[in-house]
Amino acid sequence: MSIQNVSVIGAGQMGSGIAQVCAQAGFQVVLHDIEEPYVQKGLQAITRNLARNVEKGRLTEEDKTDILSRITTTTQLETAGQQADIVIEAILEKMEAKESVFSQLDQICPAHTILASNTSSLPITEIAAVTNRAEQVIGMHFMNPVPVMKLVEIIRGLATSDEVFAQVKDMAEQLQKTAVEVNDFPGFVSNRILMPMINEAIYTVYEGVATPAAIDDVMKLGMNHPMGPLTLADFIGLDTCLSIMETLYEGFGDSKYRPCPLLRKYVKAGWLGKKSGRGFYQYT
Ligand code: CAA
Repeated sequence: MSIQNVSVIGAGQMGSGIAQVCAQAGFQVVLHDIEEPYVQKGLQAITRNLARNVEKGRLTEEDKTDILSRITTTTQLETAGQQADIVIEAILEKMEAKESVFSQLDQICPAHTILASNTSSLPITEIAAVTNRAEQVIGMHFMNPVPVMKLVEIIRGLATSDEVFAQVKDMAEQLQKTAVEVNDFPGFVSNRILMPMINEAIYTVYEGVATPAAIDDVMKLGMNHPMGPLTLADFIGLDTCLSIMETLYEGFGDSKYRPCPLLRKYVKAGWLGKKSGRGFYQYT
C-alpha cells in the first residue's frame, strides 16, 4: 500500500510544519484542528513560509499555488480520518487527549490506515493500546522548525509491525528527512539527551552560577550549538520542556531527571517562552 493521503491532526507549530513538508513532497494533505481559527492560523503559517521560499528563489509562485492546493482543512475528525492512508497526530502533549483522538481515529479510519504520533516523549505503546490496530501505530517525531530540521525520529511501539515501520521510513525519506529508528523508552533518544541538558542549564540559572545570556554564550560559542539551551527552551516552550522532564522523571524513577523548581515556577507564572512573550528572555 503506498501512502498518498496524509491527515495531520493539530494545526499548531508542529502540525502546520508537518502539513507543509507533506504537501511539498506531493502528498494530499488534510489539516485538522478543533476550531476554525486554529486551522486558519496553521494555514497562514504555511502560506507565509512558502512565500518566504518564493522570495528566496527556492520555489516559484506556481509551486506555492500547487503546494497550497494539495492542503484542505477541516474541524471534523471524521473528515480527516475517512480517506487517510496515514494520520499524523500533533496535538498537545497530554496522554488523555492523545488517547481520545487515537480511539476515535481507530473507529473512523479505514483498516489500512497507519496512526502516527508526533509526541516528543509519551509512550507509543500506551497510545497504541487504546486502538485495535497496535501494529499500525507508530511514533513519527519531527523537530522544530519542521521545514528546516532534517531528522524524523521513528519510534516503534511494542507491537509496531516491520511493514508499517518500513512504510513510515520510506515516507520520511520522501519528505527529504533522515529517519532514525528508536525503541519506545521515555523521551526516546532526542529528548532523553536534549532535555536533561536544558534542565541542567535551568539549574545553573537557579543556583546563580551565571545569567541566561552567559550560559547560552558558553554553549553557542564553546560548543557550537546553533542556539543556547535557554533560548532553545524558550523556543520549544517551557510547558513542553516541563512535561518532557516529568515524563522522564516518572518513566525512569531516577532523581537525575528531577525538573528544576525554577522551570516549574516559570510555567506556573505563565512564562512559557517565546509563545507567551516571556521565558528566560522577553519577546516583544
Ligand atoms: N520555519 C521555517 N523556516 C525557518 C524557521 C521556521 N520557523 N526558522 C528559521 N527558518 C529558516 C530560515 O528561513 C533560514 O533559511 P535560509 O538559510 O535558507 O534562508 C534558516 O532556517 C536559518 O534561519 P536564520 O538564519 O533566521 O536563523 P538561524 O541560522 O539561527 O537558524 C534555526 C534558525 C534553524 C532555528 C537554528 O537556530 C537552529 O537550528 N536551532 C536549533 C533548533 C533545534 O534544536 N530544534 C530542535 C528542537 S527540539 C524539538 O523540536 C523536539 C522536541 O521534542 C522538543
